Amino acid sequence: MQGLIGPPDYSQEPSRHPSLRINAKEPFNAEATRENLISSYITPVEFFFKRNHGPIPLVDDISSYNVSIGGLIAKSIQLSLDDIKKLPKHNVTATLQCAGNRRTAMSNKKEVRGVGWDVAALSNAIWGGAKLCDALKLVGIEYNTKMTPSGGKHVEFISVDQCKEEDGGPYKASIPLHQASNPFSDVLLAYEMNGEVLNRDHGYPLRVVVPGVIGARSVKWLDQINIIEEECQGFFMAKDYKMFPPTVNWDNIIWSTRKPQMDFPVQCAICSLEDVNTVKPGQVTIAGYALSGGGRGIERVDISVDGGKTWIEASTHQKDDVQYIPDDISSDKWAWVLFKAVVDITEDTEIIAKAVDSSANVQPEHVETIWNLRGILNTSWHRVRLQIAP
Ligand code: MTE
Repeated sequence: MQGLIGPPDYSQEPSRHPSLRINAKEPFNAEATRENLISSYITPVEFFFKRNHGPIPLVDDISSYNVSIGGLIAKSIQLSLDDIKKLPKHNVTATLQCAGNRRTAMSNKKEVRGVGWDVAALSNAIWGGAKLCDALKLVGIEYNTKMTPSGGKHVEFISVDQCKEEDGGPYKASIPLHQASNPFSDVLLAYEMNGEVLNRDHGYPLRVVVPGVIGARSVKWLDQINIIEEECQGFFMAKDYKMFPPTVNWDNIIWSTRKPQMDFPVQCAICSLEDVNTVKPGQVTIAGYALSGGGRGIERVDISVDGGKTWIEASTHQKDDVQYIPDDISSDKWAWVLFKAVVDITEDTEIIAKAVDSSANVQPEHVETIWNLRGILNTSWHRVRLQIAP
């Protein structure tokens, strides 16, 4: 019996919540409605966005599942799920955000290639599992190692799903060894999500969670961990998920000129309103999420109800009964904040939200200035139009 297998077709997909907005059926890519997304700080698993590049893998026999750690180390090992569960368990609250979040709005300005997403290609969960740095210790890699004696500087994660972009091969990605071996990076080998066993859509039996970094590096259905010299050369590292300037097009692109995207910039979106909404004159609630990459907190969320002429500050929160203080130890450093402001609307208008992170990074005003051919990281000011009911 085999442990984990990547099926060749979509005949054995899991069932999903009927309210999800499906952006692509095969591979399955779907997001929550705006309203459902911000209905709680921790996203219920059924509303968590699903981003796949192939059919969802299956486990035949969990007792024969294991993950190998090999590459540029003295001796390779195989770890069963039980071996991983014997390592100290950590719960980390982290928001995963796909680099393609808000791609549709970028495409509306000028066409880009990729699955269209509204504002919900991100979600927040409590991930339970072992720290990658503790698993690496089992092969002799100490905390905060930059390079192994045999020259390993990156940690590659390989899955089993059959991806078209890899000519039927598995999804793979890597992160730098110094990040993987740093206990404060909180990189997890996660087997739980929101206190339950990880489900198939999100990586059962084991996935990587790399907090503060675009979701593409959090490899699901983990099969192999390799210590390698250079970054993984898989499609999703070398020929995708890179940020190019607006002048680069499909005729002049040279993929090797840019590094794979890792941290994501400051982002926010209004989720209490669709674009366009019709409302009665009076008080309107403007609510949504804000987050930044690299563990940076959210300093402010500014709201404008007059197209950007004047601004008010929204309130921000994470957990009930705990005041949100950016970068404080009481806050979940890898997680989004939810924001809220109540405003008075008397005429048709455009509502804008923009966030500022704890390094004073601000979202760019116009999507055109950050347009890129793959449509990644649309972090421009989020705008929704409001019309007064006749
Ligand atoms: N891992 C595998 N094996 N296959 C994938 O297609 N997609 C990546 C990442 N890990 C992917 C993967 C991308 S692009 C994102 S954004 C996240 O998983 C999404 O995780 P989720 O589906 O649990 O939300």
